[in-house]
Amino acid sequence: MAEWRGQPVFIVRRTEEILTNLKKVESAVADPDSAASVQPAYVDRKLRSIKPEILVLVGLCTHLGCAPSFRPEVAPADLGGDWVGGYFCPCHGSKYDLAGRVYKAQPAPLNLPVPPHSYESDDVIIVGVDQEKA
Ligand code: FES
Repeated sequence: MAEWRGQPVFIVRRTEEILTNLKKVESAVADPDSAASVQPAYVDRKLRSIKPEILVLVGLCTHLGCAPSFRPEVAPADLGGDWVGGYFCPCHGSKYDLAGRVYKAQPAPLNLPVPPHSYESDDVIIVGVDQEKA
């Protein structure tokens, strides 16, 4: 886990299966196009990333700021058969998908924020520096 301005930053490499599953949960998330959520203009609104396979998020629940747990497994016993991987906030139970999009009817009102970030090279991400200015 990285850190930016004292906030945890989650960086996840997403597989093809994860990217396919994101499409399956579109109708279940509250703001699939991230219209009300915080992210730089240069990220895709659905995938919430610059590159589809790399997700960068601020790791603070949009309810009261707890740290959501990374739960990439499919259908674990405690999260149910519909779970296709995501983030689960243990504080009050908010669920997010693997684009940081909050599911409907959760305590958390918004998707997890995407911080400004850019690629210095294929393997190096700079958090806090916008893509256009890199
Ligand atoms: Fe995450 Fe309340 S702080 S659900």
